[in-house]
Amino acid sequence: MSEHDGILSSYSELMRLCQKASEEIHGINDILVASHVDADGLTAASIVCSALARVGIEYHPLFFRQLDDVALRQIADYGSELVIFTDLGSGIVGDICRLGLKAIIIDHHKPESSQQQPLVHINPHLVGSDGATQLSASGVSFIFAYALASNGENNDLSPLAIVGAVGDLQDLARGQLIGINRTILEIGAKSGAISFARDLRLFGRQTRPVYKMLEYSQDPYLPGLSGNEDACIAFLKETGIRLGGERWRRWIDLEQEEKARVVSAIIRRGLRNGISNVKLERLIGEVYTLLRESEGTELRDASEYSTLLNATARYGFSEIGLKVCMGDREKAFERSRVLLGQHRQNLVKGLKVVNERGIVALKNIQYFDAGNEILDTIIGIVAGMCFQMADRSRPILAFARTQEGNLKVSARGTQDLVRSGLDLAEAISNAAKQVGGIGGGHNIAAGATIPSVAKEEFLELVDTIIGLQLAGTSFI
Ligand code: C5P
Ligand code: C5P
Repeated sequence: MSEHDGILSSYSELMRLCQKASEEIHGINDILVASHVDADGLTAASIVCSALARVGIEYHPLFFRQLDDVALRQIADYGSELVIFTDLGSGIVGDICRLGLKAIIIDHHKPESSQQQPLVHINPHLVGSDGATQLSASGVSFIFAYALASNGENNDLSPLAIVGAVGDLQDLARGQLIGINRTILEIGAKSGAISFARDLRLFGRQTRPVYKMLEYSQDPYLPGLSGNEDACIAFLKETGIRLGGERWRRWIDLEQEEKARVVSAIIRRGLRNGISNVKLERLIGEVYTLLRESEGTELRDASEYSTLLNATARYGFSEIGLKVCMGDREKAFERSRVLLGQHRQNLVKGLKVVNERGIVALKNIQYFDAGNEILDTIIGIVAGMCFQMADRSRPILAFARTQEGNLKVSARGTQDLVRSGLDLAEAISNAAKQVGGIGGGHNIAAGATIPSVAKEEFLELVDTIIGLQLAGTSFI
């Protein structure tokens, strides 16, 4: 089967499951939507909630860091007629079924194999598509919304699916969205809600003065520019770029010819400083513009939008992020911008902590322990950011203390390691289970919560399992 036929067949199968799900909710009056506290979880929930509202079904959103026993009890006790899980659930299908609820799972995490299944289980992994790179939970939710309306009435929700996929870095490996994410992108582009183009993939194209955008660039790290405001200003002046007039010029304010000049100058500088071609190639790729959002706001750019959402949900303010996704451009949007400022500061502090504490290398993995100094809800983001600059020959694990005194673990790998056999979801969830914890995720990125005392044992287990994975030996 060609790649194109494969995508088409997975998409049709997902559509069939989504149609089944829309039949199952027929006649139901109120639905609990249980979702995950990140950009993909928020966008997924907002797509489902909007679609339910449009067909007159009452919805109640609830957000969780993970589906542990406490979360499952809260969901069971809520007493709604049906529960739709978005961006979580597939990893613990058996436990969900044992609750005896009417449930639909809309997820993209690696599913647990289980005899028991909910009313409908919709997940790209179950239909031959990869949930880490080809479809996010918000994308699956969009297909559900599409099936529910069937006349294209919900196509305006497609940009949210793109924001969720970009928030999960599904465009990272190829510098553009692929698989079913791309099918959704095309639906959005046709409806005039989103556009895509090749451009500089630095963060802040809509909102940051150009010199700040360069100064804050972490991926790729630009030697002599990243972290050095004066050098960025001097660099732009040397390149003949006017920095501002009445206000600082942002990337979107530059002429096409000016943009090309800056990109060439960055590449020349990078090559002089020994940055690899592969890293420099990552500077250019596809960017996604939400055409119905105001220019110069975070919401206009999929990447900036997703960071704004993470700045709400990761700090316990999911309801603010959800309101923004569902159209609030006043109070909730203002509040989310304040939270974004704090989130940025926390990320900068987090990177400093890693620098100070250092990364420890084991045989097959490397790790750092942030103790109480990085919030458990953003440790994964910090791990991902510093991994871009660290040794990429072995996966990175990061530990942070939770409020309850447990350890949150975040793990990140590379596409190359995945091609060599790495499956972080399997390694992390297996090792977590063995030490009395709970985990899951994707082959390239996974997480868990484990008892604090189990750290050393957990590290040993993960190191061994990953050693076996990379040696091509099954450990089950
Ligand atoms: O829970 P969820 O699936 O939404 O989270 C996916 C996580 O995996 C995100 O934190 C994302 O940054 C990470 N990821 C990654 N590299 C990829 C794909 C996903 O670090 N290529
Ligand atoms: O929290 P973090 O960003 O490190 O999560 C990486 C991936 O692992 C995400 O897809 C997340 O949903 C998943 N995860 C999980 N179970 C946990 C923690 C994280 O499935 N207990």
